[in-house]
Amino acid sequence: MERTLAIIKPDAAKKRIIGKIVTRIEEEGFAIARMRLVHLTKDEAKGFYIVHKDKGFYDSLCEFMSSGPAVVMVLEAENAVKLWREVMGATDPALAKTGTLRRAYGFSIERNAVHGSDARETAAWEINYFFKG
Ligand code: CMP
Repeated sequence: MERTLAIIKPDAAKKRIIGKIVTRIEEEGFAIARMRLVHLTKDEAKGFYIVHKDKGFYDSLCEFMSSGPAVVMVLEAENAVKLWREVMGATDPALAKTGTLRRAYGFSIERNAVHGSDARETAAWEINYFFKG
C-alpha cells in the first residue's frame, strides 16, 4: 500500500466542508491512516513549503496556511499519490477538471482547498513533517 499526505486547507475548513472532503476521500477508497486538526504557525507553514521559498507566492501562501485550522491526513491506497492528485485536480481551480475537489471547492490558485504530495519521496518527507514516529 502506498501512502500520501493530504491537507484540507484553511479555506475549506472555514467553509465547513471538512466532512464533505473526508467523505469523498473514503468514497474514493482511501484508508485514513492518520488524521489531525492543526493550526499551523507561520514558521511551521514555511517549513512545510520550504521547496517554494524562492517563489513570489511563498509568503502569502504561508500566511494563508497559518490563517486558521486545517486537517492533515495520511491516506493509504494503491497508487495513493497519483490517485489523490487526480481526485484533487489541477492546482488552479479554474483549470481543474469537473468533478475534482479543487474545481468544486477551490477559490483561487492559492486558496485551492486541498494539498497532496507530488511524488512518493515527497510523501515520505511530508508525512514525517506532521507525523513523526
Ligand atoms: P499545494 O498543492 O499545496 O502546493 C503549493 C501551493 O502553493 C499550492 O497548492 C497553492 O496553494 C500555492 N500556489 C501554487 N502556485 C501558486 C501561484 N502561482 N500563486 C499563488 N499560490 C500558488
